[in-house]
Amino acid sequence: MSDDRLNQQIRLAARPEGAIRPGDFQLVDVPTPDIGDGEVLVESRYLAVEPAMKGWMEARVDYTAPINIGDVMRGWGTGVVVASNNPKYPVGTTVSAMLGWQRYVASNGRDVPLSPIPEGVPHPVAMNLLGITGMTAWFGMLDIGQPQAGETVLVSGAAGATGSVAGQLARIRGARVVGIAGGREKCDWLTGELGFDGAVDYKAGDTVARVRELCPDGIDVYYDNVGGEILDIALANLAQGARVVLCGGISRYNATGHIPGPVNYFNLIYRSARMEGFIVGRYAQRFGEAAQGLAEYYKRGELRSRETILKGFDQLPQALMNLFTGDNIGKQMVEV
Ligand SMILES: NC(=O)c1ccc[n+]([C@@H]2O[C@H](COP(=O)([O-])OP(=O)(O)OC[C@H]3O[C@@H](n4cnc5c(N)ncnc54)[C@H](OP(=O)(O)O)[C@@H]3O)[C@@H](O)[C@H]2O)c1
Repeated sequence: MSDDRLNQQIRLAARPEGAIRPGDFQLVDVPTPDIGDGEVLVESRYLAVEPAMKGWMEARVDYTAPINIGDVMRGWGTGVVVASNNPKYPVGTTVSAMLGWQRYVASNGRDVPLSPIPEGVPHPVAMNLLGITGMTAWFGMLDIGQPQAGETVLVSGAAGATGSVAGQLARIRGARVVGIAGGREKCDWLTGELGFDGAVDYKAGDTVARVRELCPDGIDVYYDNVGGEILDIALANLAQGARVVLCGGISRYNATGHIPGPVNYFNLIYRSARMEGFIVGRYAQRFGEAAQGLAEYYKRGELRSRETILKGFDQLPQALMNLFTGDNIGKQMVEV
């Protein structure tokens, strides 16, 4: 396309060893793609970061293809159609899609599937509640966790994107919800604005005693985003018939050596409990159902969306690194 739009991409330059570093990425200027028959040009507006990206960068997960050295970083985003040869997506259409870390993407709507953003939903909210985060929280909590009114639900990584949505969904279903998060500010947000019944600051000290104190009758549903010691503490406090939802384990994502498994898993036997992991893609056929439910709760004011937004395309690596230092509250993204 012979216009003056500058396309930029951030590509994988090196596979991380331990924590992600700025040198693992390369920012490059490239021509803006031309669009052919049936194609549209999407300009990125918000690009999201997720802890899972680290596994894609390291090529250590097998549920999806790795990102190869030199490839554009893979990731979800929202954007606007700025040129169109496809009547289905006229100029001005707002979409969410696997845009990757780049300013412009050409698509025929199928190679990079484009989902129009419902009217009235701001881009950051679409990225959070109607994106992978909302889907993960919905199916992990409601399908696997199945919280019942009056039950006690414990969520780790509770002030992060997935945890904050998962905890709110359990609260909406009438459960008593306790969150675990790092720092006073995050815990105050959980018990204040989000209406959680309790919060444990795992960086403040005695997590074992605080979990026991806030879950005196045991944990009916434990939604795990972090793994490691916190998973073990939850396993030690399960109620009869508990459900443990394995969503993620960020405490181990930077580990390079041997990673110990949970010690207290025998409580699954003693409490006739169930532990189940999942990758959200398994629910892809039902994303529409979740998006509708999440949008309804959001419109009724029962479900809050919080985002931490860095500004500037070149901030994407920093935004990703921030997830591992806990600098985000709610969904971390970059306004391009
Ligand atoms: N199964 C799936 O399909 C699926 C899909 C999406 C996400 N996930 C998983 O869900 C989890 C949350 O993802 P997200 O996108 O919502 O990210 P997020 O929770 O918004 O961000 C990550 C949070 O993890 C916490 N954290 C970082 N290092 C930690 C450590 N060593 N120990 C304990 N907490 C730590 C930080 O909060 P603190 O300040 O509280 O430490 C940080 O804010 C991740 O494990 C991710 O892999 C799974």
